[in-house]
Amino acid sequence: MTTSRLHAADITIGYDGRSISQQLSVEIPADSFTVIIGPNACGKSTLLRALSRLIAPSAGRVILDGADILSYKTKEVSRRLGLLPQSSLAPDGITVADLVARGRAPHQGFLRQWSRDDERAVAAAMRVTSTTDLSARLVDELSGGQRQRVWVALALAQETDLLLLDEPTTFLDIAHQIDLLELFTDLHEQGRTLVAVLHDLNQAARYGTHLIAMRDGEVVATGAPEEVITEELVEHVFGLRCRVVPDPVAGTPQVVPLGRERGRTSPVPAPAHV
Ligand SMILES: Nc1ncnc2c1ncn2[C@@H]1O[C@H](COP(=O)(O)OP(=O)(O)O)[C@@H](O)[C@H]1O
Ligand SMILES: [Mg+2]
Repeated sequence: MTTSRLHAADITIGYDGRSISQQLSVEIPADSFTVIIGPNACGKSTLLRALSRLIAPSAGRVILDGADILSYKTKEVSRRLGLLPQSSLAPDGITVADLVARGRAPHQGFLRQWSRDDERAVAAAMRVTSTTDLSARLVDELSGGQRQRVWVALALAQETDLLLLDEPTTFLDIAHQIDLLELFTDLHEQGRTLVAVLHDLNQAARYGTHLIAMRDGEVVATGAPEEVITEELVEHVFGLRCRVVPDPVAGTPQVVPLGRERGRTSPVPAPAHV
């Protein structure tokens, strides 16, 4: 039996009485690097919000480490689980160093002030996200990609062994995307459980150990990348005809779109030489 530290059991979630997912059950296998895929607006962020207690289900339960997530104190949840939201607004005029330091708030209390441990965690989080050189800069004045790395640093500084990341590679150029995904792989190999929403199916297949494919608020497939990323699944979930070939570097499934004009069985024409 798979163990899971986090799962949703028959949850109904949504906004203002409008449900996005009904009776949804999702399991995040312990020690996995789980990647959630699915088209825009299918409910990925809503699910992550429920899994991290930002929204409460109107039915069903989210179970974190054996207990209903709603039964924990807020700080206790933040010591067990970190969330990188899809979009966040930094307080006006805050520097990078001060924003990342906020990741340590769950570890502080009335009697427990800023410590060496906090200093070390912040420095480490900034080092691995290559944001150390930005520490004195104002967050408002960074590029989208720099800002994204600062938010990742904040989530890492929290030092939770469960990390939920909503589109962490948005705004990043391809080299920074790969840097970050490899950092997540390192964290995963060091024993953390990660859940990330990614739009790039090839990256999902290459870096994820467990995939969850969603459509219209429902989970339509779960499993290893080789089981989930198939031509049928991509067409069913995204309405996109494609070929799935082995990634030439990693051997994992690689999605090659056929484009609008080509049927599923037509060969991909060789490039014309001029
Ligand atoms: N704060 C909100 N209030 C009302 N509706 C929302 C809110 N956030 C998302 N939605 C709606 O919920 C649906 C699912 O959104 P979301 O979970 O953000 O999708 P995804 O992350 O898969 O793109 C969409 O129809 C979206 O418009
Ligand atoms: Mg989203």
